[in-house]
Parts: sequence; C-alpha cells; structure tokens
Amino acid sequence: MNTDYLEINRRSWNWKTGQHIVSRFYDVDGFLAGKNSLNEIETNILGDVRGKSILHLQCHFGQDSLSLARLGAKVVGIDLSDAAIEKAQELNKTLGLDAEFICSDVYDLPNRLDRKFDIVFTSYGVLGWLPDLERWAGVIGRFTKPSGMFVLVEFHPVVWMFDPDFTKIDYPYSSQEPIIEETGTYTDMQEEAAIPTVNWNHGIGDVVTALIRQKIAVEELVEYDYSPYDIFHGAVESEPGRFHLFDGKMPLVYSLVGRPKNDET
Ligand SMILES: C[S@@+](CC[C@H](N)C(=O)[O-])C[C@H]1O[C@@H](n2cnc3c(N)ncnc32)[C@H](O)[C@@H]1O
Repeated sequence: MNTDYLEINRRSWNWKTGQHIVSRFYDVDGFLAGKNSLNEIETNILGDVRGKSILHLQCHFGQDSLSLARLGAKVVGIDLSDAAIEKAQELNKTLGLDAEFICSDVYDLPNRLDRKFDIVFTSYGVLGWLPDLERWAGVIGRFTKPSGMFVLVEFHPVVWMFDPDFTKIDYPYSSQEPIIEETGTYTDMQEEAAIPTVNWNHGIGDVVTALIRQKIAVEELVEYDYSPYDIFHGAVESEPGRFHLFDGKMPLVYSLVGRPKNDET
C-alpha cells in the first residue's frame, strides 16, 4: 500500500476545496443566505437534531455540519484537509454559529478528541478514502454514546466499478488494493485537471461486517435508485433532486443506521 496516501489525498482535497468553494455545485452564497445543504435522505434519518451532539466525520468545508448547527445541534466536524477545515471555521464565524472543526485523519481522531456523541454522521463520498473499514468502525464505536446512533449515507459501491461514462466495468466491486488515479473533481465534471488520489472500493458487505465486528448493530440498510447530486455522467433528473442512471435500474446511494451493541443486549 502507498504509505503516502494521506499526504496525496490531503493535497488533492486541499486543491478540490479551492474549486468547490467557488462552484455552483456548493453554492456558498446561497448557503450563507440560509440554504440548508442537507438532502432529504439524511434529513429524514437524522430527525429532530435540536440539542443533540453530533460528530460529523469527513465534513469537507462544513456546509452540512453548519446546516446541522443551524438546526440546533452541537456539532464537531472533522476532516483531513486543512484548507477545508479553515473554510469551515471561517463560515462558522461568519454565521455566528458554535460548531467546532478539527483537522484530523479519521483514524487519528481518538488522539485528538475525548467525548461521546448522540449521533456520529458521515455522508457521500467518504469511505473510498479509507483503507481499513474495521479501524473506521472502531472509531465510530469509540465516539458514539451507548444510547447513540451512527448514520451513514454513501454512494452505492456499484457506481465506482464503472468508467466515468458508465459504458464498461473497470474496477472490482470490493478490493483491498488501492486505486491510484489522476482526476479532476465532481463539481464541474471536467477532466482538465489531473490531481493524484489514492482510494479503495468497499462493498456493502465489507461495511456491514466491519460495523458488526466493532459491535455496532446495523438497524437499517436502504438502497436508493437515485442520487441527490448530479455528479454521474449521463444521469437524468426524474424529479427535482433525483438523478437516475440506466432508467433507475441501478442503485446509486445507500443509507445505514447503526447502534452500539451494549454488552447486556
Ligand atoms: C467527498 S468529501 C465529503 C463530502 C461531504 N459530504 C460534502 O457534502 O461536502 C470527502 C471528504 O473526506 C475527507 N477525507 C479524505 N480522507 C480522509 C481521512 N483519512 N480522514 C479524514 N477526512 C478525510 C476529504 O478531505 C473530503 O473533505
């Protein structure tokens, strides 16, 4: 495995952050003006977050974390990219919110934070940056209160098997081998930039098994035939905010709810 993967990915995400904060996709002006960046899927699962403590893993530059803070949650967002965390802290200040942001690798978080949360939340494009899901699940277990909840909303692993035009299968559904690529970013779908990244494909079975092994009971697992984001070539919007591929015959997103398995249960 490329031991430099963290540094390669940090550089890539620092560059992407610069692109994203001026992109129409992230619409920072709209967000500052009051727009909630969360989608229906996670909003429905998270429910009423008022007064809840939430740890948001891989929060990017914080729009979802701050949307949760606006709804009354006490949020801590963490991310590997120092550029993303700086922007998140700036937005937090501009909006007069009380979210906290920490620049950290997910795996290093137990050395940086010592608290438990009502909800641990992570979403859309997060697992592929992590080589070891059991270690990731251990971090979730470490930070979730015994009565707490873990919420994952992620792109379905079948989408990462295809070439960018969805014409052929290029990658395995699940593999421990890193995929080393040079890519642009999803906010403009242009391939002009070529920034190195290192990522891994994890099947849903790997995710569920990692959580179970770390004593997180999977309570619900739902697959969706649409993505709320228009990031896949050739996707068709059937209704506002629902983008399908292959006439909706392919799953594009899944959500998972887990709860710590207390010893007495
Ligand atoms: C696709 S973004 C998540 C998108 C986010 N849900 C949003 O709506 O903006 C993935 C994030 O994972 C972060 N990341 C990648 N590897 C990481 C790691 N090892 N530890 C913590 N964060 C990491 C990146 O810096 C990036 O901000």
